[in-house]
This record gives sequence, C-alpha cells and structure tokens, in this order.
Amino acid sequence: MSKSFKTFLKHTAKDFHNQSVNPPVVRASTIIFKSMQHIRKTQFKAKKNPIGGHYDYGRQGTSTTFILQKILTKLEESYHVFTTPTGFGAVFLAIFSVTRPGDEIIVADPVYSPTRLFTEKFLREFNIKTIFYNPSDLKTLEKNITKKTKLIFVENPGSNTFDFQDLGKILSIAKKKKILTAIDNTWGTPYFLKPIKLGFDMSIVSATKYYSGHSDVMGGSLAVNKKVFDQVRKTERITGLRLGPDDAYLITRGLRTLDVRLDRHRENAKKVAAFLSKNRKFKLLYPFKKDSMNFRMWKKYYSGASGLMGLKIKSKNINSVKKFVNSLKLFGYGYSWGGFESLALHQEFRETGNRKYLKLAQDEHLVRFHIGLEDPNDLIADIKQALRHLK
Ligand SMILES: Cc1ncc(COP(=O)(O)O)c(C=O)c1O
Repeated sequence: MSKSFKTFLKHTAKDFHNQSVNPPVVRASTIIFKSMQHIRKTQFKAKKNPIGGHYDYGRQGTSTTFILQKILTKLEESYHVFTTPTGFGAVFLAIFSVTRPGDEIIVADPVYSPTRLFTEKFLREFNIKTIFYNPSDLKTLEKNITKKTKLIFVENPGSNTFDFQDLGKILSIAKKKKILTAIDNTWGTPYFLKPIKLGFDMSIVSATKYYSGHSDVMGGSLAVNKKVFDQVRKTERITGLRLGPDDAYLITRGLRTLDVRLDRHRENAKKVAAFLSKNRKFKLLYPFKKDSMNFRMWKKYYSGASGLMGLKIKSKNINSVKKFVNSLKLFGYGYSWGGFESLALHQEFRETGNRKYLKLAQDEHLVRFHIGLEDPNDLIADIKQALRHLK
C-alpha cells in the first residue's frame, strides 16, 4: 500500500523490537562487534553501500541518526541527506565540499548574514572569491559567471528582504554553464518546495527551525543528488560534521508534526498578512498580494508559505519603530524562528548594511515577524495595539 507522506511521518521510526512507538536514542562512541571478522564485514558493507546505514564508530552516526536521515531523504526526494550539528554547519558543508582555491562562487545578495560573512570574508582566506548577485535582476548573476565559477548559492526567499527568485531560470543558467547549484530552503522546507526534484544539486535546511519546531534543539540537513554525493561525503568524514543522537531524536520527534504545524503556520500567517497588508505605514514582505512579482515567483514554485515575514517601515522616527516592536506582548524578542511561538525583531542596520543591492534608505527600517501557532486573532489584536506607537 502506498502511503502519503503525512501518514509516513506518523508511522515511521517505530521500534517493534522493543515494542516502543518511538526509536531508542543510541548514544555511542565505541560500537562493539562479535568478532574482528564482523568488523571487517561491516566496513566492507559500508564501502559498497555508503548510504546503507553501516557504521563502526560513533562519529559516523548510530541507528538514531540514520533513522532521521532516512526520513529526510524521503521528504526531500533526494539521493541522500547529511545531518549536521547546526543549520550553518550544513551551509559550510555544502560550500566547502565543492570549492577549492582559485574557484569563484556566485551568491544571492540577501543571504543569511553568517553565510555572507563566510563566503565574502572567510573563503577569501582560501583564495575562493565570492560575487553577489541581485535576486531581482538575474543579469547580475549571468554576467559574473567566469570559467572559474564553481557554484551558484541561492537562498529563497532572501533573509529579511523576502524576495522570491526565479529558481527555474537560475537552474537553466547553471545547467547551460555546467555550474553546481545549492539553495538554502529553510523558509519553505521540502514540505513546500523540493529543490532536488527541481534540479538543485544541494539543498540546505536549518533543522533548528521548523523541523524541530519547539525551539529546543539545533541541527541542520544537507540533501544532495548523486552527482555531488561523493564530494560531500568525503568532506563530511574529514571535518566530522555530524549531528549527535539526542538532537537527532528530538528532530525526528518534531518531524512527526511538521505537516500539521506548517499548515497552521501558513493559515495563521495568511490571516496576519491580510491585516498587515492594509496598513500604509509599511510594505509587507510576504507572498500575499497577487499582483506582485514576489507572489508570482512564490506561486510558481511553492505549494505553501511558512510563518516568517517582514515589514519595510518608512519612518523618520526610529524610536517609534522600536517602541512599536517593544510594545508587542505576545511576540518574544529573540533570534531564530520556526518554533511554535511568535517572535519579532527590529533589524539593526549593521546586519543589512553590507548588502550591495539592498538600497535601504535612512528612513526605512526592517522588522521581522515569525507567526507562531497562537490564535491569529490574538496576534492581530496585539499588533494593532502596538501599531499606535508607530509614527
Ligand atoms: C535562512 C537560514 N539559514 C541558515 C540558518 C542557520 O541555522 P542554525 O541557526 O541552525 O545554524 C539560519 C538561522 O537563523 C537561517 O535563518
């Protein structure tokens, strides 16, 4: 019987051996075998079938991490998924696996700021050059491709700017020039967008966000196709970038309700977006208005939208923007997102100022909302009372 993915998520990872509905957390450095022959046999199996879940040492994972990787591989519809201790670890693993000194990479201008710092500054120390492109003008991507270009790195939508790009067009440029592609798909997750199926070579998700869903664990996943599998596996083994079993268990637990939570985040965010879109003091950064380019680009590739959105506020009074954010009572102020709770952040200029294409005027300010699983009417009422302070 073929099961839908929603059913698969609820029924997978049962432990019939121990008669438990959940899998055990297998914590191990040393893996013990019955004999030396048994060790060699396992190593031979691992060599022959590197995605088969065979291991002889805890750094390679245990059954707990392999269960998570199996679920994610099915969700991503990819060849394999590597799991890392943080989402940023997955960004690092993707880029470091396929670039070498002398290479160039082209990166979307509004990427998550640590990704920007890593590519622009850290990789330069290894003689790897980064060029940023404007997500709303792909000519800036195409014209910067040289013989040295190894990778195009996309984040969709852009962090804080929420611009949606023409992913198909980017892929066709890359295919024509034989350049590898990677995408940070943390916003949509493979529940709403399946990048490997679309044609990307690598797809990153910070599992810290919607996968775990409860703001109590860090982790990352890197889905790959067959083409880049060996390169990534080699780097993963050499760097030891592996998720631990306790975190893997918590993420597996979170995944059981991924569809239910994301459906609700989507519905709640839609209601809040409908309210926000009527206000003339700011521009809503979320795929909501049907006549916008952003909406068209989102609709073309995604089957749904998550709960993270932004506001571009025009105000000469920055203190009133801060007061607006500080007056929210149901929104926590803090980093990260993707958990059950609503969050708000006023983005300081230092986080966005190094972007070449942002063009944020002195009187423009970015505020980010994560719309959680609370009653959306309560969230709207809270935003309404806080808006009195925005001048
Ligand atoms: C888009 C995006 N990618 C990657 C990351 C990094 O994930 P982590 O915090 O799990 O390292 C974040 C974290 O905020 C993010 O927003």
